[in-house]
Amino acid sequence: MKVLGIESSCDETGVAIYDGEAGLLAQALHTQVDLHAIYGGVVPELASRDHIRLLPALVRQCLRACGLEVAALDALAYTAGPGLAGALLVGASVAEAMALAAGIPALPVHHLEGHMLSPLIADDPPAFPFVALLASGGHTQLMRVVDVGDYELLGETLDDAAGEAFDKVAKILGLGYPGGPQLAALAERGKPGGFKLPRPLIRSGDLDFSFSGLKTAVLNVVSTPDWQAERAADLAAEFQQAVLDVLCAKAMAALKQTGMRALVAAGGVSANRALRAALDAAAGLMGARVYYPAQDLCADNGVMIAFAGAQRLLRGERPVAGGRIRVRPRWPLAELVRPGDRGES
Ligand code: KG4
Ligand code: ZN
Repeated sequence: MKVLGIESSCDETGVAIYDGEAGLLAQALHTQVDLHAIYGGVVPELASRDHIRLLPALVRQCLRACGLEVAALDALAYTAGPGLAGALLVGASVAEAMALAAGIPALPVHHLEGHMLSPLIADDPPAFPFVALLASGGHTQLMRVVDVGDYELLGETLDDAAGEAFDKVAKILGLGYPGGPQLAALAERGKPGGFKLPRPLIRSGDLDFSFSGLKTAVLNVVSTPDWQAERAADLAAEFQQAVLDVLCAKAMAALKQTGMRALVAAGGVSANRALRAALDAAAGLMGARVYYPAQDLCADNGVMIAFAGAQRLLRGERPVAGGRIRVRPRWPLAELVRPGDRGES
């Protein structure tokens, strides 16, 4: 079962071919970071144009790498949402057109399902059910995951996502765009505790998050007249610690609440080394285990989309013939259903 996956929901153009039996056959990834850097954030129209520019070449590159024609694939999977409407439309159009021309099915895939299942691309994958902590630039959610397509939202951010908070604080500290990885690197050179930042909602008794006030607290520190730029590493470390404390506390509370012993942490923020250490330590104390995607699969990529598509097909999803372009810029993950239960895809 060979599936070509296309990711184009934001600022990464990703393509990959995943085989249900043999595993990953090919992958290609282009990041638009340089394109958007001078604007300090993603410019949607530029993102769409760049996806158009590169997607056909990346698809050809992957097919050539494994000596396959499009018609030899079992399906095309593409990110249908959530994400930037124009950017999603590029991936959807390419996938649906190729599927129609080659007479193979096309499968719309939920971006967060891609992230959430990516830790399963491993020699020692987690077994269902598990709790998933999804922390990316656009989302921060805790999910009860019973099986592919059987998801219950346990809690989510009420305002900024964790990755968004990293990016905004990086901007406040003048670290540039996208900022999250740079801020994490700066935090590693500093010590938490030198500043006092809040741990929002840590004792709220539910599984929701809020990161917007934390970002404002950082802004307030650097806006004071006696702010010393030399202390940026310590401020970054305290900010990172505050985010990790909350993510960790809520993830452990979710394990307790569900009685589960496996936690999957995915999305761009799951690349954060300090977060991984904190989650591993906290879960260890509870007799639980945390599963992560490989480092190169934490950020957006085509592999997770091809893999999620393959999982759905292997579990009996009945995709319709290609040609109908379907995108959902806003698409709650908990609306998904199990592969066999989907009336139409
Ligand atoms: O999943 P992702 O690649 O794209 C979205 O679906 O949003 O996540 C990107 C987010 C960005 O906000 C980025 O700054 C953040 O993940 N990120 C990190 C790290 N690496 C990426 N945040 C904290 N520490 C990191 N090491
Ligand atoms: Zn993502």
